Amino acid sequence: MSKGTGASARTTSGHQGLMLEERLLFEEDTPGLCGVDLEEPRGLPDRLGGLLREGAIGLPSLSEPQVVRHFTRLSQKNYAIDSGLYPLGSCTMKHNPRQGERLARLPGFAEIHPWQPLSTVAGALELMGALAHALKVLTGMPAIALSPGAGAHGEICGMMTIRAALEAKGERRRRVLVAESAHGTNPASAAACGYAVEAVPSTRRGRLDRAELEKRLDGDVAALMLTNPNTCGLFEDEILEIAAALHDKGAFFYCDGANFNAILGRVRPIDCGIDCMHLNLHKTFSTPHGGGGPGSGPVALAASLAPYAPLPWLVHGENGFALVEHRTGPAERAIGRIKGFHGQFGTFVRALAYMMSLGADGLRQAAEDAVLNANYLKARLEGSLSPAFPGIAMHEVLFDDRFLEESGVTTLDFAKALIDEGFHPMTIYFPLVVEGAMLVEPTETESRASLDEFIAAVKALAEKARAGEAEFFHAAPRFAPRRRLDEVRAARHPVLRWRPPAGTEPAGS
Ligand SMILES: Cc1ncc(COP(=O)(O)O)c(C=O)c1O
Repeated sequence: MSKGTGASARTTSGHQGLMLEERLLFEEDTPGLCGVDLEEPRGLPDRLGGLLREGAIGLPSLSEPQVVRHFTRLSQKNYAIDSGLYPLGSCTMKHNPRQGERLARLPGFAEIHPWQPLSTVAGALELMGALAHALKVLTGMPAIALSPGAGAHGEICGMMTIRAALEAKGERRRRVLVAESAHGTNPASAAACGYAVEAVPSTRRGRLDRAELEKRLDGDVAALMLTNPNTCGLFEDEILEIAAALHDKGAFFYCDGANFNAILGRVRPIDCGIDCMHLNLHKTFSTPHGGGGPGSGPVALAASLAPYAPLPWLVHGENGFALVEHRTGPAERAIGRIKGFHGQFGTFVRALAYMMSLGADGLRQAAEDAVLNANYLKARLEGSLSPAFPGIAMHEVLFDDRFLEESGVTTLDFAKALIDEGFHPMTIYFPLVVEGAMLVEPTETESRASLDEFIAAVKALAEKARAGEAEFFHAAPRFAPRRRLDEVRAARHPVLRWRPPAGTEPAGS
């Protein structure tokens, strides 16, 4: 616990104020107060057959303003993309246009129920059809499975189609290769589908090592999972050779499309030889996704995998769009359902609104601006931080901790200090291929002015670290609603090598 919490975190007169510690509503209980003053219902028939509550259930007594203020104060303790720059690499925390929010709340979209007769939701089906069409155009893939509820769910769905396609050929391959720089969900998804996972190392250029890949490739490999642009913020420039090597051995090419926002409208995955790729609608095409949702991870499938796409299938016939809900007709080989109902509909609305408001040229421009912003940061920070790889970055830029050498400051400390500067920290200690990684993704929605503010803060902190002010970093954050919890600052590489040194107090306790 931090020093600023507990009973002392009240105003001098003892009222709640805007202190660090927010009391529970149960602790705010004020007998006699009532939020909504409804008359006791009288003379109603007992339809619960003796199950009526007889005594109070112990809810606190509170006025409506008390409750509203409690939740508003809680919401203000969170950093959000609506509060400031959120350069969390790999997460694409871009601004969510309010237009998308407004459209997702239209009653015709927000209030429909998935059990409504299809004849009453023709507009919703048409929206899904339009979204799938746009994703087909952008990826070049002939089929889109809309239902996966997040990127990781899309990975499992894609790997299930690969397994089904191999089984249909009578092949029981046992291994899946995963790039060493991959997001942790990649090996988890392959393992969840019953495959043994084998890592393929990266080269010193931060790309997949093709020679190492080819050493591991044989008739037992079902697929390679590779992210492009990869998690080092670099384009896999041997992607065509990689695809050819996989196909030569009868293996599939799974691409983690979480970073599609860097190449939108510039590169079509189908032209790279990719067989299957999930798209994080909630990153590439906006949608608020901090705090775990709502996400949406549609999967784009090449012709060889399309017959195995999960149910339901959205088909267009003489009478407009319809859903195929069972393994019949063309959907005979579908892997079945992977999610209740039809997917994350509100996110579909936001994603399509984003695409339609930008248009084809605007989407390409968004990708170009995302890359430009990352390279602007890289160029301006190069002298202060240590870029992990030379040359042009894509939509995010990776630094390592060499610039902190001998300073007594770790990547974690540096990130904590950024919180006091008013910024959400960058992603740290990911990807694992770089020691003390700091992955910065500014996104295209940040202005040059806000990038400059961030650059100034990072440069000032780097100077402080070099000047030997390690204690300043170890005490950070000082001004956040919570200080450090259980992190131990001495660890040089907490994710890989972290062990609590015996007898050490957690920092900030
Ligand atoms: C590269 C990469 N792959 C996969 C995922 C998983 O996506 P989701 O969080 O939507 O499940 C992420 C999420 O951060 C990611 O950055």
